[in-house]
Amino acid sequence: MSKDIVQIFDTTLRDGEQVPGCKLDMEQKLVIAERLDELGVNIIEAGFPISSPGDFKSVESIAKLVKNATVCGLTRAVKKDIEVAAEALKYAKKPRIHTGIGTSDSHIKHKFNSNRDAIIERAIEAVSYAKTFVEDVEFYAEDAGRTDNEFLARVCEAVVKAGATVLNIPDTTGYCLPEEYGAKMKYLKENVKGIDKAILSCHCHNDLGLATANSIAGVINGARQIECTINGIGERAGNTSLEEVVMIMRQHPSLNLDTTINSQLLFDTSKMVSNKMGMVVQPNKAIVGANAFAHSSGIHQDGVIKNRETYEIIDPADVGVTESSIVLTARSGRAALAYRAKLVGYELTKIQLDKVYEEFLKFADRKKEILDEDIHDIVEASKVNLQS
Ligand code: KIV
Ligand code: ZN
Repeated sequence: MSKDIVQIFDTTLRDGEQVPGCKLDMEQKLVIAERLDELGVNIIEAGFPISSPGDFKSVESIAKLVKNATVCGLTRAVKKDIEVAAEALKYAKKPRIHTGIGTSDSHIKHKFNSNRDAIIERAIEAVSYAKTFVEDVEFYAEDAGRTDNEFLARVCEAVVKAGATVLNIPDTTGYCLPEEYGAKMKYLKENVKGIDKAILSCHCHNDLGLATANSIAGVINGARQIECTINGIGERAGNTSLEEVVMIMRQHPSLNLDTTINSQLLFDTSKMVSNKMGMVVQPNKAIVGANAFAHSSGIHQDGVIKNRETYEIIDPADVGVTESSIVLTARSGRAALAYRAKLVGYELTKIQLDKVYEEFLKFADRKKEILDEDIHDIVEASKVNLQS
């Protein structure tokens, strides 16, 4: 049975770029947009055109540049925003306007001083107006994570009727539990009239570290688009990480879901975005962190040297990492030392290895990590006769 394709909507250049201190200039945005297109993302959210003349220019230039992906611009449910977004997107081969409004009681009361019926009216007006410019209109129900399902379904039904092609259900505050977010998608799938005309989209924030789990719960329950960023960057604790959701679907065939992403470009793309934004990737970050394929305890190293699959569920080559690394520390065993010594040119017999290992432990207790150059000093200090 062929797998269902989940659309990957990358918002590195919009939600991701909202990270404090990580502003990108236009040149950098164009390079990233081109790479995202090459990576195989389906939709690139290029920016929020009304927010500044610079953002307008970037969205316009990205729209001209991108060959394959749909290019999307964000708006509020405000006519002027929609007009400006349509203007910025006019050169896109496949343009999408992403418009919406807050739907939780908290947003309706504190942001809009309004009521539910008036919010539905504004949502319909925004989608209908956007439809006069482009065919592809995505609607976001901001703070859908804290919006009650019945009202959310009413909003969704109204905007689908007005022509929305995608329904974005953001967990704006990163509040939901995976079961809750998944149940929300299921509820909408089962209760919104006309839902077959639109794609449900997951847009999750990571305030409780659940953005990836929530997005996966969303697609298991019928969503077919995930909004995410490279390295999971984004405001506060960030957005769903693109590399994580892509690899979860790829490593779990039983989900019967896949994406069009060329996963071998993931590591390099992560480095590129990290460098351009000046935003370090945490070493233990799943898939693309420096330690994602590094093994340091003796038991694990011994297993990986015998067979990679003992402690690795992903072939590093599949995400563009040349090979796993065996890190030498005081917790490493003889197998790891022999392996690394061989890589730098020492083929040690069992007796030689025992001697070198003794010396190695003395070094390793003083130093956090033993590097290739240290191995030469250790072999030297252990005085083994390498000719014997
Ligand atoms: O998190 C959110 O609700 C958003 C919307 C503007 C789509 O980023
Ligand atoms: Zn967001």
